[in-house]
Amino acid sequence: MRTFSESYLERTREGMWDDSREALEPLSLGDRERILDVGCGTGELSRVLDAESPGEVLGCDADPELLAAAREHVPVVAGDALSLPFADDAFDLVVCQALLINLPDPGEAVAEFARVSRDLVAAVEPNNAAVEVDSSVESEDRLERRAREAYLEGVDTDVALGADAADAFDAAGLEVLETRRYDHVRTVEPPYSEAALLAARRKAVGSGLADDRETMLAGSMDPAEYDDLRGAWREMGRDVVDQMEERAYRRSETVPFFVTVGRLPESTR
Ligand SMILES: C[S@@+](CC[C@H](N)C(=O)[O-])C[C@H]1O[C@@H](n2cnc3c(N)ncnc32)[C@H](O)[C@@H]1O
Repeated sequence: MRTFSESYLERTREGMWDDSREALEPLSLGDRERILDVGCGTGELSRVLDAESPGEVLGCDADPELLAAAREHVPVVAGDALSLPFADDAFDLVVCQALLINLPDPGEAVAEFARVSRDLVAAVEPNNAAVEVDSSVESEDRLERRAREAYLEGVDTDVALGADAADAFDAAGLEVLETRRYDHVRTVEPPYSEAALLAARRKAVGSGLADDRETMLAGSMDPAEYDDLRGAWREMGRDVVDQMEERAYRRSETVPFFVTVGRLPESTR
């Protein structure tokens, strides 16, 4: 199972759903009674569901450390998305955010969601191949695109799933109601947060890139190309740090997420 740190999830979800929740409308949160957030991590989506719904929200994840953080927001249960510890029809909405992209067989999880839901199933999944970066450091967009391409080639799950989650819904016998796009835009500008300063320092020493080395080398990138990329990456990181010292650094990143909502067929409701 792919693992994530609490700080990674908090950083990458920063501001998500704060600007607009329109893409969540088809989840009918206003009339839900019992919602399950599968692969809830630190509960970044769970707390949005909890704020928008009068119903009970339960988080579920296989990672006990992340669940400890989610527990501060909603009740949680440890469990595997492929074999959920709940009875058939126990919820009227089962939803996940950025879970299916991390599973070798997303369809297996969606079928399990359909088993424990008596009404709606939803997935909020990014297309990580379509991320856009705009930075005041000229090389940043190009190098991040190169690193992303190498990662996408080497990774063994479909991290560009996005709107294609609807295929898994179809295969699970769900009636797909709608897919809506939500662009999560994260900006870095002065005054810089502690997290932004840390991210810049990590770029300057190449540690963020090093975390993905194995995955990149599993694709078509060879070790010499990786070393070249890492050298250029660290140089770019030092430029970021320099610009931050002059309060001149600006960056915006747009990650397109797709909200797919399906309903159990009439005959099984
Ligand atoms: C990218 S994180 C997303 C977390 C959260 N939904 C969010 O959007 O911030 C993926 C989450 O799925 C969990 N996960 C991965 N495989 C799982 C599985 N088979 N069963 C349950 N949780 C799983 C991970 O522990 C992690 O918390």
